[in-house]
Parts: sequence; structure tokens; C-alpha cells
Amino acid sequence: MCGIMANIGSENAAREVLAGLKKLEYRGYDSAGVAVFNNALNVFKVKGKVADLEDHVKNQPMAGLVALGHTRWATHGVPAENNAHPHMSENGRLAMVHNGIIENYQSLKNFLIEKGYSFKSDTDSEVLVQYIAWYQDHYQLELTEAVRRSLGDVEGSFAFVILDSTAPNTMVAAKNDNPLVVGISGSGFYLASDVFPLTESCDKVIYLEDQEIITVHLEGDYEVIDFENASITPEVHTLERKDTVYSKEGFDSFMLKEIYEQPEIIARTLKSYVDTNLAEIKIEAIDLHRRIFKQAKRIVIVGCGTSWHAGLIAEYLIESMAGIHVEVEYASEFRYRDPLISTSDIVIGISQSGETADTLAAIKLANERGAFTYGIINTPGSTIARHTDAVSYIKAGVEIGVASTKAFTGQVSLLTLIALKLATITGKLHPLQCKKSIDEFLEVPKMMQEALLTDQLLGDLSQNWVNKESALFLGRGLNFPVALEGALKLKEISYIHAEGYPAAEMKHGPIALVDSEMPVFILATNKSALLKLTSNIQEIKSRKGEVIIIRNAGMEIDAALADYQIEIPAVSEFLTPLTTVVPLQLISYYIAKGRGCNIDQPRNLAKSVTVE
Ligand code: AGP
Repeated sequence: MCGIMANIGSENAAREVLAGLKKLEYRGYDSAGVAVFNNALNVFKVKGKVADLEDHVKNQPMAGLVALGHTRWATHGVPAENNAHPHMSENGRLAMVHNGIIENYQSLKNFLIEKGYSFKSDTDSEVLVQYIAWYQDHYQLELTEAVRRSLGDVEGSFAFVILDSTAPNTMVAAKNDNPLVVGISGSGFYLASDVFPLTESCDKVIYLEDQEIITVHLEGDYEVIDFENASITPEVHTLERKDTVYSKEGFDSFMLKEIYEQPEIIARTLKSYVDTNLAEIKIEAIDLHRRIFKQAKRIVIVGCGTSWHAGLIAEYLIESMAGIHVEVEYASEFRYRDPLISTSDIVIGISQSGETADTLAAIKLANERGAFTYGIINTPGSTIARHTDAVSYIKAGVEIGVASTKAFTGQVSLLTLIALKLATITGKLHPLQCKKSIDEFLEVPKMMQEALLTDQLLGDLSQNWVNKESALFLGRGLNFPVALEGALKLKEISYIHAEGYPAAEMKHGPIALVDSEMPVFILATNKSALLKLTSNIQEIKSRKGEVIIIRNAGMEIDAALADYQIEIPAVSEFLTPLTTVVPLQLISYYIAKGRGCNIDQPRNLAKSVTVE
């Protein structure tokens, strides 16, 4: 993971880099560093966040036209100052910031040790910079050529920026399997892990492709070559300029703000994809490829974490509504198991960031095998969006909290529309029924808003669970993936062990965990599962588990069965994931808050997982 930010040409390049790193902190935040060239190369690093780095450098001479920085998520080596980037070559000439994993770092390191090199960190990145330095010294090469030739021996994924202090008017960057964007501004170049930090200062960007190296000069020119030394003319994209000042708008965390944004996001999604006059769903990616969708024999959905949960909901909806066979897989498993993919398959990649390494690799594999690939993405211009045959964007806006909330409901709402749309294409849904479903969907923002009124009640109730060690989330049908999502939220931000299960699976093992100390959250918002679910609740109650039922208004559930019942507004069954997840998000939030956890930046996590 990690965020890379570099600048050449601005009056105070280090200031630009620090500002950019703050926007990249969602990629990792265990340590940070910056190097600035002003007569000599000065490197500053801290264990901690970019704010700690800012504090650390505030009285240091930071002026200079060239700087590069990094915010880290540890892969090789614990979070510590010596493992933070930039890493220097032993001769003090080169400084590098790197994102990715050098898989053959040990053999490169052994080679360098034999040559007499020593290392200050436990990272694979330091091996890479030292290896480039060895090439440079040994063959007397200028930096770009030393980078190009040394990469011939390097295995793994990387995006890096490197600076040679003997030629500080130039920076070099290379990429393979990790993103790197080059922003072009009036005053020079910005090199970053993604476009977020560039939108305020750059009008144009180049998305470096795999196996490409760019050399940017203070004078304003640049060259791109590939690893074979062929010259490349990159596509230069226009960037929409916007000031991206992210504010919590009075909420105490981005996560809570994002939970509250959800009704508006669903309304925006409906506005973007539904023609209410015609009662029609207009999804350009599908309309343009209608024949492919009509003839599809199978849809395979790939994603990770929360996006995978959204995929499971889509499986239930698409199969039942449109009658198309759907499979959902963890992208990390799909990419390595030699899956059977045919040209009549559609492979859908779901990703908030559009940068998740495993999802990207799964999509590339599906492309190679001739499937039609379709991205459901939140981040315009992201790598996955650029590697799919078609893409539809969810309308969640930038999500800052590491725990995904509004992106999940954004994904589920778009996937629900896709299911309805496909059902009209396969002829399983009559236009009149479609209109009825759309009308019901249009009520959801209001219902979500009402579901948010449980906030205070859940804030109070959650104090009961602040000191628990474990929790279970159970649901049937569409609520099973929602249970998984509820458990993931609680784990991520409160560090309480939590599991989501299909309610009926309890008897096959997990019920052994239930005792009076175990809160069990039961999702009872889908009427069709209620009777069966009631028996599952009885089983938990008889083992003294603490039962918390989340149910729709108007649903009768025997008061004796539950310790607490939380009522949310009733919506049609196919829409229940959108409302049911709201109290689960709030419960996780309040429990984490009660435990004093960092809600927006939980330990060990990063928002965007760009390493496998
Ligand atoms: C969710 O709360 C997570 N932090 C995580 O599981 C996330 O959904 C996953 O890493 C996938 O990310 P993506 O949607 O950006 O691909």
C-alpha cells in the first residue's frame, strides 16, 4: 500500500509533498517521511502520521524545488523510523519512495551484502534503492538508465520515485502493478500514488502504465520509456480542477459523517441512473453492451472485503430477479486458482478505490481469458476503471473513513438497479413491475434517514457492549451478507472479535461460542426468513446469549425472545440491505468510540490495499 508524493518545480516542494501525503494517508499511516533537496539532500522521518512528520520538520530548513515523501503501511519491517521512507543508498546519493513488494529482495540483498553493502532498515525498498545505486556505480550510468537496467533483475510489484542528489534537476519514477500518476502543472511535476492530491494544482495527468519509466525535469520537459528502452508517447489526460478540502462538517469522525451522507448518496444514485418519467433504469455501460448482457451465460463477481459483501447481495438479487447464474469470489482466490472463464461470461469487479491489487489482478485475468469485464467503482480514473471493458460509477464521493460505509450502500444501490435492469433485459421483469420497484426504491433515502434516528438509542445501548470480547451477527437470505458486513465493521474499528453467519449455520458449530457474555445481533428485516429465524433466536436464547434483534416496523416478534429490539422503517425485501446496515454501522461506531479507538484510521489497516 503506502502513499507516494513527489514534487519538482514548486517554490516549496516539501510543503506540496506534505499536503499531498495527507490526502494519501488513507493508503497507510504507520510512519511517514520526506526528503528535500536544498544544496544537499535532507531526509526526515517519523514513526506515526503525516501530522507528526509536519511537527517534526516545522523548524527545519524545508525550502527547495525538489522533494519526495511517503506515508507507509508496513509490509517488510515493523512500523519504525528506520523502516520509514525515503530510503537512501549507502553512498548518500539516491533517495527513493516505494510502494509495492520486491519479491526477490532477499537474493538481491545477499548479492549486495557480498559486495560489501550494509542496510539500515528491514525493508525490501532499501534493497531496491541500493541495487539501483550498485548499477549506477558499477556501470557508471545516469539515473534513468540505472533504473531501467536494474529493473531487469527485479521481481514484484512497485511504483517508486527516485532522486539522484548529484543531478537534482531531475526525478525518475517507474511502475509495475502499482499505481503512479504524474501531474503536470504550470510550475512543474507532481508524482503521486493517485490523483487525489493533484486536483488542486494540476490540469493534466499521465497515468503511467506498467513497465514504464518517466524522467521529469525541473525545466518542464519529460520523457517516458518502457523497460526495453523504447520511447513512449503517453496519453495526457485533462484533470478537472477542484479544491479538495475534506471536512468532518461538525461530526467527530469522517466515518460518522459518511454514515449520515448515505440517504443523499442513494438519492444521487437514483437520480443518475433512473429516468423517473419513463420509469426506466438507464445504465450506459449496460445499454451500450445490451447484447452481451442479454446473452451472458454467467456473471462472476470479484471483490474484497466490503465490496465482496456487496457482491454477495448482488448474487442474491441478480439470480432471483434476472435469472442469470451468478458466482461471487474473493478476488485474491480467483486470481490464483486458474478459474474456468469463457467468452460468454461477464466478470464484474467491485471496488471503492479502484486500486485494490487483488481485484485488479482478477480483472486482468478475466480480460486475458476473453470475458467481458465490468467495473463497479467509486473512484473515477482509477486503475481498475481503466482496465475494464465497461464501468459504472457509484455516487458515494470520496470516502475517507477506512471502514467503508457509504461506499457499501452506494455499491448495493447501484447493484440493485443493475439487477432490476438485467431483469428487464432477460424479460423476467415486466415494465410495470419494474416501475413499482423503482417507486419503492425512491422511498429508500427517506427510510434510511429514519433508520438514522436510531442513533441516540444505539449510542446508549452500545455502552453495554464496549467491553465484550466477541460478537455474532446473524441473518438469512439477503441479510446474511449484511451480517458479514456488520461483523467486519465491528472488527475493523473496535478490534472486538466478530463473526457474521447465516443464522441456520449456527447449529453447525458457532453455537458452541454462545454464552451470557456473547451479544448476538439478529437481522430480522426480511419477512420471508422470519419464521425460520425465530427458531434460530430460540436456540440462542436457550443458551443464554444476549439477543439484539433488528427488525422492520410492523414486524411482530415475541418480546420475550430478545433482550433488545431495534426498529427500523420497513422497505420492500429487495431493498432491506440498505436500511439494515445502518444500525450496524452505528453500533460499531459507538462501540469503537466507547473503547477510545481511532475510528477513521484503525490500527493495521489502510483504505486502499494495493499490495496482495
Ligand atoms: C471495508 O470497511 C474495508 N476497509 C475493506 O474491506 C475494503 O472494502 C476492501 O479493502 C476493498 O476495497 P475496495 O473496495 O477499495 O477494492
